[in-house]
Amino acid sequence: MTRPDLRRIVIFSGSGVSAESGLPTFRDSGGLWRQYAWEEVASPEGWRKHPEVVQAFYNERRQQAAQAQPNAAHRAIAELEKAFDVVVVTQNVDDLHERAGSTRVVHVHGELAFARGERSGLRQRIGAEPIHMGQLCPQGSQLRPDIVWFGEAVQHLEEARAHVAAAGRLLVVGTSLSVFPAASLAYAAPASADKVVVAPELDSPPDGFEWLRGKATECVPQVVARWLREGAEASRGRTA
Ligand code: OAD
Repeated sequence: MTRPDLRRIVIFSGSGVSAESGLPTFRDSGGLWRQYAWEEVASPEGWRKHPEVVQAFYNERRQQAAQAQPNAAHRAIAELEKAFDVVVVTQNVDDLHERAGSTRVVHVHGELAFARGERSGLRQRIGAEPIHMGQLCPQGSQLRPDIVWFGEAVQHLEEARAHVAAAGRLLVVGTSLSVFPAASLAYAAPASADKVVVAPELDSPPDGFEWLRGKATECVPQVVARWLREGAEASRGRTA
């Protein structure tokens, strides 16, 4: 078995990493899918039925995300770039990883800060602004959120899978691993990679993972500190 490159780190995150920034998860008590029917607000059928309801739902999410601040978990993840080749693969549609300082973030479920034409598919940055009905892309079709709805194709999936498959270290944090195909990324790392999952509750951790059953802001900085220490020891070993 070839040894994976321990300098290559992938973080695979879900909504739980932003929970302590005040953004709701989806399936916990108080989660978005406990308050809203996903079929109504996160599906092409919901959009066809009542686009103004879907638009209002994501306008509220966008405003809430823009007001939230990165937490200690996002910041610790960004700190890894000081010593490692890091890619963050996230199911999250907020930009808290980027605002914490992470420079390579792959969003597989889209981004609140972007809109796209419902027919053209052309993306444009809208930042924290709401999207209005009647607001068109340059090609003339209605702007919609650049969010992957149920039944739509996940974005950048093969790019994300290639990053995970080349990782020497993988940290999975804040996801129930229940939405496929994105969740399959957690299982794509080499068998010999150092794999850690941070989750307060899971039915069971994926095989081969160390499971830290705590909150992201407590556990992620611990994992990061350990990896930075190991990385520093390895570079001392290389130069000795
Ligand atoms: P879920 O709501 O399914 O899972 C959130 C996970 O975060 C759960 O396992 C929680 O236990 C955990 N969690 C909660 N608070 C935490 C904290 N402070 N620290 C660490 N973990 C915590 O959300 P996701 O797995 O992100 O897709 O959901 C995946 C996808 O389902 C989303 O991207 C979204 C949704 O439908 C789309 O909208 C396309």
